[in-house]
Amino acid sequence: MELYKLLYPMRIVLITVRKGKYENVMAAAWCFPLSFDPPLFGVSISPKRHTFSLLQGAKSFAINLTAPGMDDAVLVCGRNSGKDTDKFAKSGLTKEEAKKIDCPLIKESPLSIECELVDTIKAGDHSVFVGKAVNVIKRKEAKGLYQSQGGEWITV
Ligand SMILES: Cc1cc2nc3c(=O)[nH]c(=O)nc-3n(C[C@H](O)[C@H](O)[C@H](O)COP(=O)(O)O)c2cc1C
Repeated sequence: MELYKLLYPMRIVLITVRKGKYENVMAAAWCFPLSFDPPLFGVSISPKRHTFSLLQGAKSFAINLTAPGMDDAVLVCGRNSGKDTDKFAKSGLTKEEAKKIDCPLIKESPLSIECELVDTIKAGDHSVFVGKAVNVIKRKEAKGLYQSQGGEWITV
């Protein structure tokens, strides 16, 4: 059995990042709070991801929560690479400029957390990118979209 699935279901988020003229969005289920004060969040990303490359030397990233109805967009962002695909265009997601960091946010997301990238911790075959929340944008109340043990999605 794949042991990581013991902790599922896990909430699916969309990680957005900008580096110079390059912007990207990827789906992530391995995203979690790390600290109360300062308010830190971690997202564990494989070096195979284009997002990983963009985060090298980047100053910030954003965590955008997903909600029911965003399933198709999540699949686009989780099955295509920003290396060769404009996932914003392909998914139909709308970019919204962050207020306190240099990064696009996802307008359809019920809540976005703007983070300054403060640390990167190698963790086996992934790296945890540690973000300090510097601004939260809440757009609406919504249920969450979660990835279940079997890979299918549930809402809670
Ligand atoms: C629901 C879901 C959750 C995912 N969670 C993660 C994750 O936490 N970490 C990770 O490295 N990749 C995760 N992935 C895989 C990436 O989203 C996928 O490889 C994506 O195509 C990477 O895009 P990029 O190359 O543009 O960065 C997930 C995919 C899906 C569909």
